[in-house]
Amino acid sequence: MSDDIKKGLLGIVVDETTISQVMPEINSLTYRGYTVQELCDKCSFEEVAFLVLNGELPNEKQLKKFIKEERSNRKLSKQILKDIQKMPKKAHPMDVIRTSVSLMSLEDKETKDNSSKANMRKAMRIFAKTPTAIAAFFRVRKGKKIISPKKNLSFSENFFHMCFGKVPTKEIVKAFDVSLILYAEHSFNVSTFTARTITSSLSDIHGAITGAIASLKGPLHGGANEEVMHMMNKIKKPENALKWINNTLDKKDVVMGFGHRVYKKGDSRVPTMQKYFKKVAEIKGDKKFNKIYDIVERVMIDRKNIHPNVDYPTGPTYHLMGFDTDFFTPIFVISRITGWSAHIMEQHAANKLIRPLSKYKGQEHRKVMLLNYR
Ligand SMILES: CC(C)(COP(=O)(O)OP(=O)(O)OC[C@H]1O[C@@H](n2cnc3c(N)ncnc32)[C@H](O)[C@@H]1OP(=O)(O)O)[C@@H](O)C(=O)NCCC(=O)NCCS
Repeated sequence: MSDDIKKGLLGIVVDETTISQVMPEINSLTYRGYTVQELCDKCSFEEVAFLVLNGELPNEKQLKKFIKEERSNRKLSKQILKDIQKMPKKAHPMDVIRTSVSLMSLEDKETKDNSSKANMRKAMRIFAKTPTAIAAFFRVRKGKKIISPKKNLSFSENFFHMCFGKVPTKEIVKAFDVSLILYAEHSFNVSTFTARTITSSLSDIHGAITGAIASLKGPLHGGANEEVMHMMNKIKKPENALKWINNTLDKKDVVMGFGHRVYKKGDSRVPTMQKYFKKVAEIKGDKKFNKIYDIVERVMIDRKNIHPNVDYPTGPTYHLMGFDTDFFTPIFVISRITGWSAHIMEQHAANKLIRPLSKYKGQEHRKVMLLNYR
């Protein structure tokens, strides 16, 4: 392949952004200038969602208004709830959620309005309603009754309530909140770039988020947190872990939850998420996943110098919280909607159609032979 082709856009800077900065050389990630570690320590997910969407941390009055708007938009229409009930129970929840956001566009009165104010209102509606759709399918496919959102619960508490009918302890809710903060935004990754590409044709936010969800589903992106859990379930017990990981590396197979296109010396989100994974494991009395986690991580670093990415600790954390494995990536969605929406609005504000070139290596110019001569 010739040198002028940058397959996978490797190393190519395609635009400017004010939303987040990934600094692999100093192992740091900031949202609007704040490190994610500090945001996890000092803020709720709602504060960080406001920050990502609006550019500044909210004061008390702004936060109150933001929370009120989010809580008052949580309910889904009867029609979408009916549609979710009719969806095949075996469908992957990412396909259900992609379809649900697409359905929301059919009902939204402002779908066609791409002004910044309308985009912010639509982003809030998608942000508020998507967890309700995910939780509805979580219940429906188990043959359980859908649970309506509650206005007196925080974003994270309400998600647990809608999935399980109860809210867990403060420590568990905090661990979930932290995972959402860490998943909220990550610059020009595949799904965000997909959302910006769709937006660049002046398409709308529902379409861009629908496309971003499709992109996030892949195992090389958001789907990795699910793959991590499949891997841990395959390993079954800590005694098998060493043999399993060595065999896998001998076969040159990819180990999910490790490696990153940008971070080559470790993902800046991992130490924080790992701390909360360990806490959740302790609360739940888990020894198994905790041990498997440590063994696989040690071998990956010792043998390959490849470090875990954020999906490695989130996978077993969500499992211990009681979520089904195929709901891990939809949980990623409910948080990343904030980052996607901010990028969609940024793209609209200074748009340039995204249209790269390709090098043709197909057939030479030739004539069409009529059907009876072929
Ligand atoms: C994320 C990922 C796609 C980044 O890919 P990339 O920047 O294109 O890097 P490459 O795939 O070219 O990897 C470079 C080398 O490291 C190896 N490598 C990278 N990630 C690896 C992993 N998870 N397991 C085993 N080997 C890995 C590759 O095999 C390659 O080795 P080689 O040079 O001997 O061929 C890749 O690390 C991966 O597939 N990870 C697993 C999926 C995952 O966890 N995704 C979530 C990302 S947040």
